[in-house]
Amino acid sequence: MFSQHLEIVQQHTDNALAASGHDGVLIYANHPHNYFLDDMPWPYRPNPHFAWWVPEAANYPRSFLHYQPGRQPVLYLYQPRDYWHSVPTAPQGEWASLFDIRPFADHSELPDFSLLKNHAYIGQPEVSPLDANQTNPEAVLNPLHWGRSYKTGYEVEQILAANKRALKGHQAARDAFYAGKSECETHLDYLRATAHTEAELPYGNIIAQNANGAILHYQQLLREPFPEFARYSFLIDAGACQHGYAADITRTYAWNESPFDDMIQALDTAQQQLVNQAVAGQSYIALHEEAHVHIGDILHDFEVIKVPGQEAAEMGLTQVFFPHGLGHFLGLQVHDVGGKQADPHGTPIPQPEKHPYLRLLRTLEAGHVLTIEPGIYFIPLLLDAARDNALGKHIHWNTVEHFLPYGGIRIEDNVRVGTHEAYNLTRSVA
Ligand code: GLY
Ligand code: MN
Ligand code: MN
Repeated sequence: MFSQHLEIVQQHTDNALAASGHDGVLIYANHPHNYFLDDMPWPYRPNPHFAWWVPEAANYPRSFLHYQPGRQPVLYLYQPRDYWHSVPTAPQGEWASLFDIRPFADHSELPDFSLLKNHAYIGQPEVSPLDANQTNPEAVLNPLHWGRSYKTGYEVEQILAANKRALKGHQAARDAFYAGKSECETHLDYLRATAHTEAELPYGNIIAQNANGAILHYQQLLREPFPEFARYSFLIDAGACQHGYAADITRTYAWNESPFDDMIQALDTAQQQLVNQAVAGQSYIALHEEAHVHIGDILHDFEVIKVPGQEAAEMGLTQVFFPHGLGHFLGLQVHDVGGKQADPHGTPIPQPEKHPYLRLLRTLEAGHVLTIEPGIYFIPLLLDAARDNALGKHIHWNTVEHFLPYGGIRIEDNVRVGTHEAYNLTRSVA
């Protein structure tokens, strides 16, 4: 399966180099960065372009991949003589046999890459051996980003495996919430169940109880649990990785049967309808707008707002309760590349004025993998602003008061777009 993936990566790269007029590409794995005035590194993330070629990319910092169309890719694998850190062992298995692997212990053993004729370099620019105009050239990056937006069978398998792993964590986190554990304890249970260290997560876990669920990228992890009489809700947005590919999943739970619990169910139903529409030919902008109508209808049904969904969406009322995009491409990066390109050359799709935070503007095609993540939140900052403007009169403020302590709801699944069908990669492995 990986060999087919590698062939497709090579085709995309051949096309990108042909279009930009290059004879080859040098892709740097990247290296760890230290904290300011310190000798300790930040958690390391490899260059995603390197990870597109090399499955265990996180293990090979400071390595280089050299590719010229028609030739076997060469992996210059950094194996330093180092007794301070573990040194990567020689790669084994199917994927390794597809590369010409040349270990090196010191940069002096590498060829002089500055002599490479008519090449592009992709990676951290400060160590580029090539001229600035050959370093991360958009004429190469744009078609590669376009190519990366169509996932190979191997890539879908990795995202599925990442989902499987993340769901183990979600189950443990749900149990922790209903056992009355704190946000921090819940986070630790999640790590244990996924066997991930914190640094290996694709993004920092969002583990939010009660009103914290209204903070979209909440990161605090309270050490103390809320007292039982004041436990209302739990929102968890947490993923996992497989060979560098991410899962990105959100669930929301109510402590008790309550209107909030019913609202979770209503949003879940709407979310699944939206997921089913993620098929080839669907405009993602239109799907985002449809989500606003669903959310408006739910808010109307629960007597949060006084007008039905369509009208609420048109006047901008639903933006108060759903102030982020419906989702994004997913892959080697959680917010994966290519979502705003009209074509391989990188012509931008204009950002709709009404939807400044939408990260995916394309018409969907088979092979795209994306998230569908509608939300309903009670965010004091946005509600206070609405109270003071023309939207305020359309809101039932007493109902808002009721829901404020619950924070918010988000339901997020990972979806592969098919020609006639959407494949829910999250629920299919649940
Ligand atoms: N976890 C980040 C996001 O859902 O986009
Ligand atoms: Mn997401
Ligand atoms: Mn998420």
